[in-house]
Amino acid sequence: MCGIVGYVGREQAAPILLDGLSKLEYRGYDSAGVAVYSEKTGEMAVYKAKGRLKVLSDLIEGGAMVDGTVGIGHTRWATHGAPSDVNSHPQVSRSGRIAVVHNGIIENYAELKSFLMDQGVPFTSETDTEVVAQLIEYFCEQDQVDILEAVGRCLRRIEGAYALGILCADAPDQLIAVRKDSPLILGYGEGCSFLASDVTAIIRHTRSVSYMDDGEVAVLTREGIQCYNHLMQPIEKEICHVDWEIDAAEKGGYEHFMFKEIMEQPEAMRRCISPRIRDGEVFLENFPLSDDYIRNISKLYIVACGSSYHVGMVGKYNLERMIRKSVEVALASEFRYMNPIVDERTLVVVISQSGETLDTMAALREARRLGAKILSIVNVVGSSIARESDVVLYTWAGPEIAVATTKAYSTQMAALNLLGLYFARRLGTMDLAEYRRVLEEMLLLPEKMEAILSSKDDIQYFASQYFNHSSVFFIGRNVDYALGLEGSLKLKEISYIHSEAYASGELKHGTISLIEDGTLVVALGTYRKLFEKAMSNVVEVKARGADVLALTTESHREEMAKTANAVMTIPETHDLLLPSLGVVPLQLFAYYVALMRGCDIDKPRNLAKSVTVE
Ligand code: F6R
Repeated sequence: MCGIVGYVGREQAAPILLDGLSKLEYRGYDSAGVAVYSEKTGEMAVYKAKGRLKVLSDLIEGGAMVDGTVGIGHTRWATHGAPSDVNSHPQVSRSGRIAVVHNGIIENYAELKSFLMDQGVPFTSETDTEVVAQLIEYFCEQDQVDILEAVGRCLRRIEGAYALGILCADAPDQLIAVRKDSPLILGYGEGCSFLASDVTAIIRHTRSVSYMDDGEVAVLTREGIQCYNHLMQPIEKEICHVDWEIDAAEKGGYEHFMFKEIMEQPEAMRRCISPRIRDGEVFLENFPLSDDYIRNISKLYIVACGSSYHVGMVGKYNLERMIRKSVEVALASEFRYMNPIVDERTLVVVISQSGETLDTMAALREARRLGAKILSIVNVVGSSIARESDVVLYTWAGPEIAVATTKAYSTQMAALNLLGLYFARRLGTMDLAEYRRVLEEMLLLPEKMEAILSSKDDIQYFASQYFNHSSVFFIGRNVDYALGLEGSLKLKEISYIHSEAYASGELKHGTISLIEDGTLVVALGTYRKLFEKAMSNVVEVKARGADVLALTTESHREEMAKTANAVMTIPETHDLLLPSLGVVPLQLFAYYVALMRGCDIDKPRNLAKSVTVE
């Protein structure tokens, strides 16, 4: 949500900013803008436009008409004030000498705005961000301090979550960056420096980055970057090397990132799983939780949002079976308001692709306050959640650009299963032969996924049969229910078809009244132990006129086909791993349905990749 990029160097800034912003488009936005300082005129030029980045790019001829080598850019996702040119960022102070781009929310902006208006400061936008630009200028003028000091004073007055990029025409050889509860990355180049909310925006230019921590301020110049802590004392930041390839964040010939990422799953799974299985054992490098600690855990509490929460739902079934300890799953947005029963003996497992989801971060902090240890399963290295956790299991899925998650979901599930197996071994709760069988099967998941992907044309055909339904139900039991939650979310978020997931046994307690002639029911029957029951539910909805698209394992295809209208299959695997395979046809189905409906697949309406507001 919202994207920031900043550049100070020797090249023309505007094309670099536009390119960086294009890499942040996936985060979701409704308007974009840039501010660039021109050494020739001594002025700052600000261009902003509602709509896609292309509107801004056309306005400034791809950057060619904007002179200057220092600038900031932003893609905005409206929170305070509707999407409009005037509410877009950068927001400028009344003199036009200070420009600010901002991710997050200034919670006390109304109070500060009325204070500034009382001092005669006029406002032009409805945004909370304009308050920051005006307040910095107010301190510069009123207190006769330089820009850095004025920023420091401003920070002492504002409350909320923010990542800020600040450009001041009176100190035109530098940018100032500030971070609190919203990610910001610093990039180190030859004779130039960068700031960005996401590595993808600057990786074309540098692989040397550092991750700002809460309360830190950075001054970026052509010569380098100086960071300060919250007391404005100079600090040294660790510089990390980003080792993934640029084309990992490019479409590479595919029409959509989502499709590319679905197809990348076998490789992502290999990266996540292979290094963690050695000689028939789960191997977690530098894993700090001792066997005593693991034995002493009273329960696991999984917290996450959206698809990551759905991974947690599978995890509840799988982990309770593996480790015979209680596993609770909570939506991160609910967790901190539900007075959760958490203490020192609770291990809180936080799942997040981005590592920046605000609700998930807030849940993590609440769990820590209550005394729990935090283990996170995260994709984005160096993200806020990763850095605030006691233990991190990275998913190593590579950058995920499409808003709808695919490879991150699969690898999160693999990491969670590995964690369960690791614990089970220490707790002695799993038969050794079964443990080994699961590990062998895990290593086979990538090639089994490849087999499913190679039959994608069949799924495209099913999508062509059902893409014009207006309402869909996903039903299943046990892990098939948890899988249905994800299948349903995938479909609704990118195709805009109303869709719900139900535990099959719940149908008769209300929902079955919605089944009528032609209603599409996606019946999930991969879980061997409950296959007969899954069949009964298929018969039940068929009898009420439903069209049934079923998903089952190869060995059950024939039986399922006797009743269902159409059947998708996955190869046989261990029960614990069925959702890892089952999700692939559901992702493909959602993708092809959305494609046939002409939807904006990579950037569905109203959605953002990284949800950094509550
Ligand atoms: C759906 C999707 C979202 C995310 C959710 C949590 O396809 O991607 O539901 O799973 O917003 O995001 P992370 O995992 O980044 O915390």
